[in-house]
Amino acid sequence: MKVNNTHYRSLWWDEARNVLMIIDQRWLPHDFRVQPVASMQDFADAIRQMRVRGAPLIGATAAYGMALAMAGDPSDGNLDVAWDFLSRTRPTAINLRWALDRCRSTLRPLPPSERARVALALAHAIADEDVGINRRIGENGLAIIRGIAAAKAPGEPVRLLTHCNAGWLATVDWGTATAPVYQAHDAGIALHVWVDETRPRNQGALTAWELGAHGVPHTYIVDNAGGHLMQHGLIDLVIVGTDRTTRQGDVCNKIGTYLKALAAHDNGVPFYVALPSPTIDWTVTDGLTSISIEERPESEVADIQGLAADGTIGTLHVPPPGTRAGNPAFDVTPNRLVTGLITERGICAASAAGLAGMFPELAAAAG
Ligand code: MRU
Repeated sequence: MKVNNTHYRSLWWDEARNVLMIIDQRWLPHDFRVQPVASMQDFADAIRQMRVRGAPLIGATAAYGMALAMAGDPSDGNLDVAWDFLSRTRPTAINLRWALDRCRSTLRPLPPSERARVALALAHAIADEDVGINRRIGENGLAIIRGIAAAKAPGEPVRLLTHCNAGWLATVDWGTATAPVYQAHDAGIALHVWVDETRPRNQGALTAWELGAHGVPHTYIVDNAGGHLMQHGLIDLVIVGTDRTTRQGDVCNKIGTYLKALAAHDNGVPFYVALPSPTIDWTVTDGLTSISIEERPESEVADIQGLAADGTIGTLHVPPPGTRAGNPAFDVTPNRLVTGLITERGICAASAAGLAGMFPELAAAAG
């Protein structure tokens, strides 16, 4: 997608320097900083500190981390060490483990002398595949938006709500929940996006930045506003992303997603989840009991980062000194609250049958 009229992916390989480049998302939307990721510790820090974030982007980054590890020491032992080291960075988004498993199982049978080359090619492939998957999610989600637009008066916008940033910054390109939005906008369909702020890390500000750069009309709202807007008929549909979706279609996503799904259900608003297949955890059925929910630092809740009047980026402390803060980063929306899953192959029910029908070979392989 475009930043100041230049096309960017959220990460890219710098051939001249032989290094992965990322956009450090901690400073967005106020400062666009690009930086190399050049050591294993740097990879782990970048994921843990959310310089890179969003399930698909975490997975692609980890694949480049495996490539770096193999360039340094392609032994069997280091393959396991690197897998273990990177897998501990964030616990919830399944794309991390999916990418690491794919790298390890591809590299293990190869002679060590071939591993560095193949690992880098595989990281490039995982990044490119993500772009293709999201483009197709966009095409499939576009059909839903077209259907809603067709029932409206000409020029009347389709009003969506989204939570967190499931945009191009959270993937390699396009985004998942935003891909249908970008494609609908490009197809000339009038849209308006309600952007949840998404406390505590305010990923909604990233979404607002993306949408603004693409010319999509939007309004930034506090997380608590969505239910009210739905009660007053101001939201036609919700599309969110996911960090891990179970084989029965329970959706683990950014904290607060569940409340939006409840409000949507109560108000008859369609609630869709944009789901790339690498985000399905076929080993888990019940999302409520079996997904590890990341607990992040208290400081993310107590301290708010923003742009000061003098143009510097700083933080403000909100609660009284000494007050403890809790920071569960994700929640689980049960499948009964999900209208449908928008995948790269099409739209399916959020159910075991729906997912197995869409991805029979993956369901069978998982047993
Ligand atoms: O903590 P984050 O910012 O990594 O969480 C991101 C989300 O929850 C996204 O909604 C999810 O990864 C889907 S991104 C296409």
